[in-house]
Amino acid sequence: YIEQVRAMEIFDSRGNPTVEVHVYLSDGTVAKAEVPSGASTGEKEAVELRDGGSHLSGKGVTKAVANVNGAINDALKGMSPYNQAKIDRTMIELDGTPNKAKLGANAILGVSMAVARAAAHSKHEPLYRYLGGCDLELPQTFHNVINGGKHADNGIDIQEFMITPVKKTSFRDGFEKIVNTYHTLKKVIEEAGFETGLGDEGGFAPNLKSSEEALKMLHEAIEKAGYKPGEDIAIAFDAAASSFYNKEDGKYHFEGHVWDGDQMLDYYDKLLKEFPEIISAEDPFDENDWNNFEKFTARFGKNIQVVADDNVCTNPKLVRKAIKDKLCNAVLIKVNQIGTITETLETIRLARKNNFTTMVSHRSGETGDTFIADFTVATNAAELKSGAPARSERVEKYNRLLEIENEIGVEDERLAHFPNNIDMD
Ligand code: PGA
Ligand code: ZN
Repeated sequence: YIEQVRAMEIFDSRGNPTVEVHVYLSDGTVAKAEVPSGASTGEKEAVELRDGGSHLSGKGVTKAVANVNGAINDALKGMSPYNQAKIDRTMIELDGTPNKAKLGANAILGVSMAVARAAAHSKHEPLYRYLGGCDLELPQTFHNVINGGKHADNGIDIQEFMITPVKKTSFRDGFEKIVNTYHTLKKVIEEAGFETGLGDEGGFAPNLKSSEEALKMLHEAIEKAGYKPGEDIAIAFDAAASSFYNKEDGKYHFEGHVWDGDQMLDYYDKLLKEFPEIISAEDPFDENDWNNFEKFTARFGKNIQVVADDNVCTNPKLVRKAIKDKLCNAVLIKVNQIGTITETLETIRLARKNNFTTMVSHRSGETGDTFIADFTVATNAAELKSGAPARSERVEKYNRLLEIENEIGVEDERLAHFPNNIDMD
């Protein structure tokens, strides 16, 4: 049973305070979890409780920490760590608000993750196995190698340019191709006379004037690294369009233009034609502009993956509406947008039942916690985005996937070792 849950304030990859939780079980097991934090957050995300005031620019999380050490600890003490749904439900009821505003989603999520990990440890199982059982696969990974928008100080308004290995024999093989392309991209940026400093998610943040320029460099880097764009390495982007949408005039203020929805659609059309290696687009329109988002999906959704992030915030109710409205054909999954592991699982199940792809995601403010790597494998979520192959808080997730692949084996090897008593002749 749970003997104690204890939190403390630590710091994330941007130097902002965040919550760390330790869970102590009666059998001596101790496990911890650390909570991530976004910058381009959706309006309907669960509430990240921050102290306010002047200390640490108001970003302290001592109230969330106190909620873990007080009310949550009192409620969970003595409970079994193996019933994740009951643990999460207890915290949701204790909070009593629809968006975890009272206790803080940062407090609740930290406990939810740490309890799952403690339960796995106590059963002597890796986290992916405890949460996922058997027959598991490694995800298709998306790596943000050029950072713009709110994640970098440059002229690029599309937030993320990602690369993904299409042709690969294993996760390791795909990741090596990503690493090669990343290093080649650095040279391409240097040779063009730009800085190669990194943005929040480990991608380069050259001070380019446009997204088109960024895509040209990426295309060149893929080729120079010896790969075929689209065939070996494909491109994905996250526009995070809420961050360049102006609520006052209802227009998109994009890289020097002021565009309405139709003009934005035409721009995307041009971009997708110029770069056919783009296979996935996230948040092409503002989170409240469902109309244009739907038009985007109707127009391009047959050819590419259209991912909704800020519109749905990993919330089952919003995902249900997105499915009904044909808003997108894929859903981004961020554990801290909804605040418990159980609700995140519910959202994934709902999306997959309706043939929507799920892409698990890190946040731009991360920690060393590799929870999402195990979680992605456990849920058989098809995809994971966790930033560039640079900056430890990003690479740790990929290193964890390498470990998991070592343990479960690449798919072909697993099949080869499968006991086969059937006489094929
Ligand atoms: P965030 O960005 O973590 O800053 O919200 C990630 C995303 O928009 O997908
Ligand atoms: Zn996003």
